[in-house]
Amino acid sequence: MADTRHFLTLLDFTPGELQQLIQRASKMKQDHHARTDERRFTGHVLGMIFAKSSTRTRVSFEAGMTQLGGHAMFLSPDDTQLGRGEPIEDSARVISSMVDIVMIRTFGHDIVETFAAHSSVPVINGLTDDYHPCQLLADMQTFHEHRGSINGKVVTWVGDGNNMAQSYINAARQFDFELRIACPPGFEPSSELLAANRDRVSIVRDPKTAAEGAHLVVTDVWASMGQEAEQKARAAAFAGYQVNAELMSRAAPDALYMHCLPAHRGEEISAELMDASDTVIWDEAENRLHAQKAVMEALLLANR
Ligand code: CP
Ligand code: NVA
Repeated sequence: MADTRHFLTLLDFTPGELQQLIQRASKMKQDHHARTDERRFTGHVLGMIFAKSSTRTRVSFEAGMTQLGGHAMFLSPDDTQLGRGEPIEDSARVISSMVDIVMIRTFGHDIVETFAAHSSVPVINGLTDDYHPCQLLADMQTFHEHRGSINGKVVTWVGDGNNMAQSYINAARQFDFELRIACPPGFEPSSELLAANRDRVSIVRDPKTAAEGAHLVVTDVWASMGQEAEQKARAAAFAGYQVNAELMSRAAPDALYMHCLPAHRGEEISAELMDASDTVIWDEAENRLHAQKAVMEALLLANR
């Protein structure tokens, strides 16, 4: 519906609102660690539609909604009419008439857009082939908690120009940082997205050059969900694109590295970095919980 707010990409919130969200997420984290969660959404229901697998997204949304005082409902296309061809538009009208907020993880980004256009309640993108905005909120919260503002900093993306890379392009715009993307030819993010963000985002093929002086280095799997058949070919194409101690030695002395997980040790990231005692990767994963609680709170309040 026209006046319902959604979170399908980072561009659905203003830069100021995004800053408020990550501050709110850090406050909710403190409250949760002190076991003083507010539980202000008693009786509210989150519908969670998962057309792809998930550990972090499912656990964080379900735990998060419970901590807000509400209930989360897991809906799989395998056992709903979504998997038997009921139109997205009809499903959106019906599901949104019964729940207060919806999260969708699916393939085409157009599916979440269509659902949102026919939903009377807020819709959150829990990952599509094109974007993963919830992960970016957690990443931005993590950087902020460990290093302060990311404004004006240099971020290096190493690997596939996938949904995470594209979300980093939106983040470069909304959080105002320089983004260098090191990817092999043929694995670039969308050319339209690159063209629209030419002022802050560049393709720097060589990971070593791209990592020079960076404040944050980020990577992700070489074959995303839905690309399992390409795993072998991609492993060959991405040889030399591993984030490891040698690459990090080129970055700024206090640089952080992140990975949305799940990770493949020895492929896109070394086991040494994954298992380092000072990595922020586990904090990054935990922050999914807090960042999404902040998003759900903001959208539920906006839709009252
Ligand atoms: N990072 C992330 O979204 O993890 P899951 O696929 O486990 O949800
Ligand atoms: N790019 C990965 C992210 C997983 C959280 C995928 O889409 O599978």
